[in-house]
Amino acid sequence: MKFIVIGSINMDFNFKVSHLPLKGETLKVTAFKTTPGGKGANQAVALARLGGKVMMIGAVGSDEAGISLKKSLLQEGIDIKAIKDVDTPTGNAFITVDEKGNNTILVYPGANGGLDSKWIYNFTDEIKEASYILLQLEIPLCTVIDAIELSHKIGTRIILNPAPAQKLPKEIFPQINILTPNETELALLTGIDVITEDNIVKASNILIEKGVHKVVVTLGEKGCFYIDRENHHFVKSFKVDSVDSTAAGDAFTAGFAIALAEKRSLNDALKFASAVGALTVTKTGAQESLPFRADVENFLRMVKNEE
Ligand code: RIB
Repeated sequence: MKFIVIGSINMDFNFKVSHLPLKGETLKVTAFKTTPGGKGANQAVALARLGGKVMMIGAVGSDEAGISLKKSLLQEGIDIKAIKDVDTPTGNAFITVDEKGNNTILVYPGANGGLDSKWIYNFTDEIKEASYILLQLEIPLCTVIDAIELSHKIGTRIILNPAPAQKLPKEIFPQINILTPNETELALLTGIDVITEDNIVKASNILIEKGVHKVVVTLGEKGCFYIDRENHHFVKSFKVDSVDSTAAGDAFTAGFAIALAEKRSLNDALKFASAVGALTVTKTGAQESLPFRADVENFLRMVKNEE
């Protein structure tokens, strides 16, 4: 199972706080740590820990953060030859997490902004060999679009996690095999103000009508919603103690990709992805919180025994 992840690589600054800061408020941080992150790198690490053979295409600065982030990806068994060094500082994210595990994230793109299409084209052969290519929206949108067009042309299936929320050109939707927005992203992509239980089918169907093959909307503790041209249904979440929701969406997307590449049934794949997401919120940090294959299998076995 070969996967290519094209996306961001960040150094995360994690701030634990009693509640998310209000306008004009100065707030005491109760715990602080610096950890590897970035939506792209998180997905790459999740795939590798779940048993995927992964190549990451990205960009870091020629600085200490860049060196350390590349080293940690290498230690995860990820092929890093397609990570380029650029003359801009490595990307950063500033993450506040409250006592319930909710977060807010500020992102400084830095070197991620230097990931251009020309660099991606160097790895056309590797992209052709992959089961899936995974993308997010923390690198320049034109690079994402060119990468999708290339992958579509050479027949590699595309999973786009449209985070952070951004509008997409209409021509791109029919080329996307799987789109995994959360509620905010779904609202922005469809022009619907607020996503509710009553309008989620209508909203997700807009994306199917635009040409996306399969849409999975992640709904946090409410589970997820799946839709394609023939079917749609909700999948409940697993009940866990949430300490930090950072990277849960990344983990879910990677889990779904792995399960589909293993040719699991749709329901099994959604359950597997939900388990990967659920385990991620039980630990703090982004990559630090991503589960290994054995953790997910044990968790699913435990849940089954309890049923
Ligand atoms: O999805 C979580 C990630 O978003 C963090 O690791 C942070 O780097 C931001 O990119």
